Amino acid sequence: MSRSAHPAGPRHADVYPEGHYTAPATDLNELDPKVWSRTVTRDADGALTVGGIEVARLADEFGTPAYFLDESDFRARCRAWSDAFGPDADVFYAGKAFLSRAVVRWLQEEGLNLDVCSGGELATALDAGMPAERIAFHGNNKTVAEIERAVEAGVGRIVLDSFQEIVRVAHVAQRLGVRQRVQIRVTVGVEAHTHEFIATAHEDQKFGIALADGLAAEAVRRALTLDGIELIGIHSHIGSQIFDMAGFEVSARRVVQLLAEVRDEHGVELPEIDLGGGLGIAYTSEDDPREPHEIAKALSDIVTRECESAGLRTPRISVEPGRAIVGPTAFTLYEVGTIKPLEGLRTYVSVDGGMSDNIRTALYDAEYSVALVSRSSDAEPMLVRVVGKHCESGDIVVKDAFLPSDLAPGDLIAVPATGAYCRSMASNYNHALRPPVVAVRDGEARVIVRRETEEDLLRLDVG
Ligand SMILES: Cc1ncc(COP(=O)(O)O)c(C=O)c1O
Repeated sequence: MSRSAHPAGPRHADVYPEGHYTAPATDLNELDPKVWSRTVTRDADGALTVGGIEVARLADEFGTPAYFLDESDFRARCRAWSDAFGPDADVFYAGKAFLSRAVVRWLQEEGLNLDVCSGGELATALDAGMPAERIAFHGNNKTVAEIERAVEAGVGRIVLDSFQEIVRVAHVAQRLGVRQRVQIRVTVGVEAHTHEFIATAHEDQKFGIALADGLAAEAVRRALTLDGIELIGIHSHIGSQIFDMAGFEVSARRVVQLLAEVRDEHGVELPEIDLGGGLGIAYTSEDDPREPHEIAKALSDIVTRECESAGLRTPRISVEPGRAIVGPTAFTLYEVGTIKPLEGLRTYVSVDGGMSDNIRTALYDAEYSVALVSRSSDAEPMLVRVVGKHCESGDIVVKDAFLPSDLAPGDLIAVPATGAYCRSMASNYNHALRPPVVAVRDGEARVIVRRETEEDLLRLDVG
């Protein structure tokens, strides 16, 4: 299928329902820097380039669908977070957003720590040489084998998520003859303003131990009596894709209150608090994310103020951004396969990927932007739904967007801000082959996670 423009392609600019969706006032060729990674631009021919390389060349060399990750943007975001928090705080990149050996090396080079939440993430971190003391190990149901591996490796901290886990980690550490540093994850009772499935600090969900009813205080009591563990702090993560700092402020206040209660009851001042990740990014031009320096200032001001009024020494703060670092740094490149105008409704544009490379739209009703990137176009906008090739009508990548009405099979379109929770949540549904991740920097592109092959699929099928 040719990738060149199809001047004779279907024209259906008039299919979007009048008055329901307003065609965008902005030029569809414009790439909003809020949603695209930093080195993305259009060249003189109107094609998108990233790291100085044109998308058609990337598609020819690496195929589609594929994720292209802007390495210098990733590194710049790491630096912005660590500069904003400074030497008296710690930034842990949340590996669940996207993890690979290359990412682990970049994190080390940029001075960040790493949060992992499974044996697989831990193995990747260690294999790529992340010093164990810079790793935090999370998860609401770590297996004993995972705990053993983490303790043996010497991870800097394990974040305890339940009463059973307090005992489990203490026993493993004692058996291995070490004292494991731990934090206790508490749920502070904050309703984060985000999708239900990514809000994590209200009480009716699976993570952490509630501050309510004295449960968290009881967890601290138990942790302080066990020899195998050293309680170094309290952890709270209130959810994901959050723009409003109010939830973080309430969370910080409640965590500091618990520190004061612990001091009053046990005479111990816990030296650390972790306020989790969850900062939102721009998926569309409507989103207005906060900058790391604003977040750092808001959090450290509130913690300092609360500690002063409780007569506590200010603890060392840590945070765990995942999406806010990697999310904006990548886009997914697709080739348009079929185009179906539905009279009076919208036009369905099918691409060569779908819910197997981006489940977030189906899972959270996530919103995305999309652009024609193999060329520019002055054609009128048409309302589209970008869908995948899977056997589900919910297989939607971008629910509502505008693309030029001369869009044609063979065109390349790209969905920005897919660096977080896309490749890491990718699946083999319909035996799709999970796309590669290609890092692009200063005119060079290299595969950091290769495309799956049919041999990979068949290797696991041993029946
Ligand atoms: C404990 C914890 N920390 C950090 C994160 C990262 O969140 P985000 O990628 O939204 O920053 C998560 C996400 O689920 C989490 O559960």
